[in-house]
Amino acid sequence: MKNPFVSEIAAQVAPLTGLSPAEIEYALTVPPDAALGDYAFPCFLPAKTLRRKPADIAADLAAKFQPGALVTAARAEGPYANFFADRPAFARWILSRARAEGDRFGGSDEGVGKTVIVEFSSPNIAKHLGVHHIRSTMIGNALVKIYGALGYKVVSINFLGDWGTQFGILMAAFRKWGDATTLEGDAVSNLNALYVRYNAAAKEDPALRDEGRAWFKRLEDGDSEAVALWQQFRQISLAEFEKVYELLGVRFDVLSGESQYDRHMPQTIERLEKAGLARLDQGALIVDLSAQKMPPVLLRKSDGATLYDTRDVAAAEDRWNTYRFARMIYVVGGEQQLHFRQIFTVLGLMGYPWSKDCFHVHFGILRLGGEKMSGRQGKVVMLRDVLREAVERALKAVTEKNPALPNKEEIAAAVGIGAVVFNDLKRGRIKDVDFDWDAVLSFEGETGPYVQYAHARMCSILRKHGLPVADAPDWTLLREPEEFALLKALSVFNAAIRRAADANEPSVISQYLLDLCGRFSTYYHKHKVLGEDPALTAARIALVDAVRQTVANGLALLGMKAPEEM
Ligand code: ARG
Repeated sequence: MKNPFVSEIAAQVAPLTGLSPAEIEYALTVPPDAALGDYAFPCFLPAKTLRRKPADIAADLAAKFQPGALVTAARAEGPYANFFADRPAFARWILSRARAEGDRFGGSDEGVGKTVIVEFSSPNIAKHLGVHHIRSTMIGNALVKIYGALGYKVVSINFLGDWGTQFGILMAAFRKWGDATTLEGDAVSNLNALYVRYNAAAKEDPALRDEGRAWFKRLEDGDSEAVALWQQFRQISLAEFEKVYELLGVRFDVLSGESQYDRHMPQTIERLEKAGLARLDQGALIVDLSAQKMPPVLLRKSDGATLYDTRDVAAAEDRWNTYRFARMIYVVGGEQQLHFRQIFTVLGLMGYPWSKDCFHVHFGILRLGGEKMSGRQGKVVMLRDVLREAVERALKAVTEKNPALPNKEEIAAAVGIGAVVFNDLKRGRIKDVDFDWDAVLSFEGETGPYVQYAHARMCSILRKHGLPVADAPDWTLLREPEEFALLKALSVFNAAIRRAADANEPSVISQYLLDLCGRFSTYYHKHKVLGEDPALTAARIALVDAVRQTVANGLALLGMKAPEEM
């Protein structure tokens, strides 16, 4: 989003510093105290090339500054040159923009013509989504929306873990103990129970393992009975996943999975061999990465079975051939850091320049009541159960707060699920997340309900006002420092979205929203929006409406709803 105030400063500062206007726009900061100025240029930047002290450069910039309609004054403050914006002009600019752009406000078109692939969620079939799956699912979903807001064409992919010897074991188990009732009711749990039972039995009787392997071999060879069974397991799992995605409001453009790439294996392995990368090691085919100080990538086991690594190499090639992406993002937990480093290294060694555009966006673990919740070690808490409980608890809270609310169920769903999502996205993704029911659902503090409630309060002010929001109120009436602080916060929404995309970091948006809502609450406690003077009220209502729109847009980027009442 072009900021004409920043452009004007850059145009004046550029010729005096030898930096380009773009470099100056990038370097401009916002002083913490608005009394010092609205934008600050740090003069250490050109000090070296100009061979002058930063403070002298700052003084010079201030002295030579030509006041204009947008930027009215400049002042030196130590090594900084500080600039002052014309406040009514600033209000007119940002509020008209928010109004004209509506639910697109904050976005831009810098990504137009470029494709970003976001692979996320990617659960394994024949198991329920565990509560820990919320992390990949909602970080990925937010990245899809964040890149989308910047104009990128985004392709969201769910890459199911739906291939491998474990499904041979599942088939063997089903053939041994399963029947039609296994596939009724909670079929996913039934299947998982058979799988666990079979693995336990195989510890006593290794022949069971061979039986499992034989079933997977049949599947790989396209045996119709094996394929039919596998397809049934996959369908049942998908239907279960779909229910949870629906609750979360998550959709995928492409439903893919490891099974898709079985048939690509021979060609991928051939390319690796031709490139001189694959070699035999005790009967297994590997890519040696000792020069890169990593363990080898296992391409094919001695029994001929291909592996997770190989399927990822094949999938990456296929995605490049299909989409010619500018970036490909894998939203997968931190345990797989080595795996992705290996895969990206192999792609680089294969000569694919796009390997440098592949990113593993990893994240910390989720702790429920202090315990690690992962599929493998921890006990599995199902995501659907957590979401249901969140909605129930939110219904209680909402009913207490506002008993007269007409559509309580709908609002409880938005608040309960939103609370879980916000809790997941509020801190830097690398950090572990603590999940504590009371903290998650509180209406105070850094929570989803707090942000949603601030939004609902703005909606209620607008409802009480009852008149349409004016397009061009008297901007000179927005004179309070708290009003200007809000206007400035609105003006950096686009920058926040860009930073979120640059770092693949949805928490930039959640933190932005907390800051914006905090500023709003300060303003609202201090000043009356709906007052006696209709002109002043009209100007303030325009401001409130723009803040409301911005909060709603930010919540949408996080994959949350913004109820108008709560
Ligand atoms: N299904 C895997 C798991 O649950 C995650 C897949 C991640 N994506 C990938 N392209 N390897 O651990």
